[in-house]
Amino acid sequence: MNDGNRAVFELNHLSFSYPGNQPVLKDISFSIQAGERVCILGANGCGKSTLLKILAGLLSPQEGKFRAFHHAVTRKDWNDDAFSCKYHRKVGFIFQNSDVQLFCSTVRDEIAFGLLQQKTEPEQIKSRIRDISALLDIGSLLEKAPFKLSGGEKKKVALASVLVMNPDVLILDEPTNGLDPRTQVWLVRLLNSLCKAGKTLITSTHNLELVSKISSRGILFSEDHKIAADSSVSDLIQDIDLLKAVNLVDEDYGTENKI
Ligand SMILES: Nc1ncnc2c1ncn2[C@@H]1O[C@H](COP(=O)(O)OP(=O)(O)O)[C@@H](O)[C@H]1O
Ligand SMILES: [Mg+2]
Repeated sequence: MNDGNRAVFELNHLSFSYPGNQPVLKDISFSIQAGERVCILGANGCGKSTLLKILAGLLSPQEGKFRAFHHAVTRKDWNDDAFSCKYHRKVGFIFQNSDVQLFCSTVRDEIAFGLLQQKTEPEQIKSRIRDISALLDIGSLLEKAPFKLSGGEKKKVALASVLVMNPDVLILDEPTNGLDPRTQVWLVRLLNSLCKAGKTLITSTHNLELVSKISSRGILFSEDHKIAADSSVSDLIQDIDLLKAVNLVDEDYGTENKI
């Protein structure tokens, strides 16, 4: 038996460019096992969001191999509605900016949207909305318009619309960005409890304080869009020279000149 048997994602020499632009991911290889808590780390513009969108099935790489759940995913797969539907049920993606994710006229419709697409029975939809609203404490928001909510409330609704599908893999781009401190703590606890329940958790951040709270493994990107390190978070955050080299901390980090 090889350890690839629990692999959720396997990337081999993968590269990606936006049309007409230079590559923003270069020769990326790693695999992620079921149940892991992995954080993609790197300075702004290094390619974190792009990578997460590839894992979430929203972008396709031009070069290299991308396997998900032991299946070699090709561009053709995304034209197959059954494949796409199954994939998006297994892999939930939370955008950095919740406004891109919320488009229905009420929170209730927003949470029901994916379930309706999957042709879930109306009674099931009702009970799932009830359960997820209780878990995220958003019962009082159900009849409100998402665009009128605060940033923290929008994030909860975006999470609810994904968690209600009960995905195996959760991908969150810069999960705590723009959230107030109390909501940040709430979210970190929620993510860790989901991980304890067996979910695979993949996040991105350039915030070093957050990384050890939500992940045990870090994949660090350099500004030239390559993997600079892939190791335990505890080792990564101590390698100050490396963090400086990839522009995640400033020159004075770790010295008494630190501001
Ligand atoms: N839709 C797009 N079209 C063209 N370039 C893009 C697009 N989205 C992102 N980029 C560029 O790709 C690079 C990587 O972006 P991104 O993956 O968002 O990085 P990060 O999340 O690490 O900040 C950046 O230079 C960014 O400007
Ligand atoms: Mg980003």
